[in-house]
Amino acid sequence: MDNNLLIINAHIVTPVGSGARKGKEMNELLNIPCGTVEVTDGIITYAGPNRKGKLPEGYKVLNAENQILLPGFVDSHTHLVFGGYRPEEFIWRMRGDSYMSIMERGGGIVNTMKATREASFHELKEKAEKYIHAMSRMGVTTVEGKSGYGLDKETELKQLKVMAAINRNPNRKVEIASTFLGAHALPPEYKDREERYIDFLIDEMLPYIRENNLAENCDVFCEKGVFTVEQSRRLLSAAKEMGYGIKIHADEIVSFGGAELAAELHALSADHLLHVSDEGIRRMAENNVVATLLPLTAFTLREPYARGREMIDAGCAVALATDLNPGSCFSGSIPLTIALACIYMKLSIEETITALTLNGAAALHRADRIGSIEVGKQGDFVILNSDNYHILPYYVGMNCVIMTIKGGMLYPVA
Ligand code: NIG
Ligand code: FE
Repeated sequence: MDNNLLIINAHIVTPVGSGARKGKEMNELLNIPCGTVEVTDGIITYAGPNRKGKLPEGYKVLNAENQILLPGFVDSHTHLVFGGYRPEEFIWRMRGDSYMSIMERGGGIVNTMKATREASFHELKEKAEKYIHAMSRMGVTTVEGKSGYGLDKETELKQLKVMAAINRNPNRKVEIASTFLGAHALPPEYKDREERYIDFLIDEMLPYIRENNLAENCDVFCEKGVFTVEQSRRLLSAAKEMGYGIKIHADEIVSFGGAELAAELHALSADHLLHVSDEGIRRMAENNVVATLLPLTAFTLREPYARGREMIDAGCAVALATDLNPGSCFSGSIPLTIALACIYMKLSIEETITALTLNGAAALHRADRIGSIEVGKQGDFVILNSDNYHILPYYVGMNCVIMTIKGGMLYPVA
């Protein structure tokens, strides 16, 4: 069988568990220097020290030669389906304009909305597949993808259907968990009618998407000048009622109460958190909200990094993701995410690994299936070009992945 695989002589390094690791637990990794992993029909059936005796038949055998074997990386926050690009906004920001001032004068998300409405299904799919290919080479085996560049029924569905079509390919290298982000910005058609737009999302979009199984999660850009805490609460409560996992773009530009709302609603995650309050941190820890940090966005926007160290010390579960999108962060670089997390957010390398694997999986409600190397989980792995995982941040911004394995299928990095 194609996805029966034995990896022998691997240096296995993995968090353990089927839920997010919080606070000090993030530092605890299982470390098996001479290990074997057996994958049967895509699922892990053995993970432990090398076994004595003959190798079982019917398996492809891969000798890892003592290199590091990690769980596949989970990039739990991206906007990977979009039309057009916005390089001019990057130049304006380099000259000193702020992200929000560009959005206020009609650029930003609405700019990409126009290009996404114009783009064909095929164009969007080809482009997203290009990013997915690049992600796979950096070790990603599961990625979250958001809609939110249509802001009308037809185009939001087009984005979600692109992700569904990519997922239907049995040989996909990366699996997509899709999130409905209709509340990413107010479309021009609804100018000054924010409440009506929220009604439209609740009455027309959420039920349709649910019935057609086009998104697992619902997200909102809860921010000054975008959607208020009250509007976000109304939308997300309705989504939760319908069975969606809920996520919030929270406290990205100003301290706005997004983390507190995430805690109140028991959201899967609150994301960004550059300006989260102390109270927000405390309440996320108490209510098991994964704090998803996106250091590439802070880097690109020249903003201070989120207080990752403090969040972990306060008992939070932290995840790391790239936020790949055409505006605030046109990068899906896992190596740079790792380096920034260790250097500027002061996470340990072990915490960083947990954040990019099991905690990312928990932020997608998938920690029972992916995010660690344990019997019963999917055969999704990364092999590094080193027998020491400290290479990850040390080799700054460079790719140390030599092979990504998805459901037992090998994808060598050429
Ligand atoms: O996560 N902040 C809101 N959404 C994205 C940016 C989207 C865009 O600028 O196109 C983010 O940063
Ligand atoms: Fe985002």
